[in-house]
Amino acid sequence: EEQKQELRERLMQLKKERNAIILAHYYQRDEIQEVADFRGDSFLLAQKAAETDADVIVFCGVHFMGESAKILAPNKTVIIPDERAGCPMADMVNVDGLRKLKAEHPNAKVVTYIDSSAEIKAETDICCTSSNAVKVIASLDAEEIIWVPDKNLGHYVEQQTGRPLIKWEGYCNTHDMLTVNDVMEMKAKYPGAPFVVHPECRPEVVAMGDFVGSTTAIIDYCKRSDATDIIVGTEDGTGYQLRKDSPEKRFHFATKYLVCPNMKVNNLKKLVKCLETMQPQIYVPPQVAENARLSLERMLQVK
Ligand code: 13P
Repeated sequence: EEQKQELRERLMQLKKERNAIILAHYYQRDEIQEVADFRGDSFLLAQKAAETDADVIVFCGVHFMGESAKILAPNKTVIIPDERAGCPMADMVNVDGLRKLKAEHPNAKVVTYIDSSAEIKAETDICCTSSNAVKVIASLDAEEIIWVPDKNLGHYVEQQTGRPLIKWEGYCNTHDMLTVNDVMEMKAKYPGAPFVVHPECRPEVVAMGDFVGSTTAIIDYCKRSDATDIIVGTEDGTGYQLRKDSPEKRFHFATKYLVCPNMKVNNLKKLVKCLETMQPQIYVPPQVAENARLSLERMLQVK
């Protein structure tokens, strides 16, 4: 704890020196969320990156999030605590495969989940996050829609909008691990407790949800809820904000496997170090960034 206090003090000093802002996703370790200027879901953090007047953005999340920040704020320096914090789902789609699919459906618009690489975003008409996916699809005038890379979120969006999607076969390893049985066991253990679930879970698990939404939406719902016990179907880092908002409620994560190892690669020590050394920095080739920016900006404009 004493060492942590020292690290926090050093961090505050460096933040001032560098005129930096710290953005942290809700899946980050508590010790990072504690010191962040903003905690949020993917959408809110992208917005904050686009709006900030800081010189340096320290993005605590996974790699594609830092990349999106850099694309939206090309004149800022974007650093991340550890460049090994990747996203297996983002890696499930590659440019060649997507181009092939586009060639098979020349009239289709491409909608890409923000959990993807800059190169994929550069091949995209419009991006979305879990918080605005339904609105983004509803805003599109298109005969056919190619959807990459999350088949689970895609399935949910199809149900909500009634629009069929040409779905890529990707998924989030962490959310996809949660099963109907896991949720049934928790429901038996905590009868009457609502089950809140992220749409990256499997369709049959999402179907059991009393509430379905992004991390921010889940956190807002739980804050407002009258329930004393709540079963949670998303990554365990959300527990930090959930407990902070409602210390009197009990949050039960639906399995102990709801932990994203990539999100947990970052820690307070690495956060301080990256601000000290200004490394690793996010770099996106200009042509890729320019095309990717259009797809992200279109998303930010959807009301
Ligand atoms: P949101 O915070 O936008 O719900 O995204 C969750 C996620 O899986 C990010 O990788």
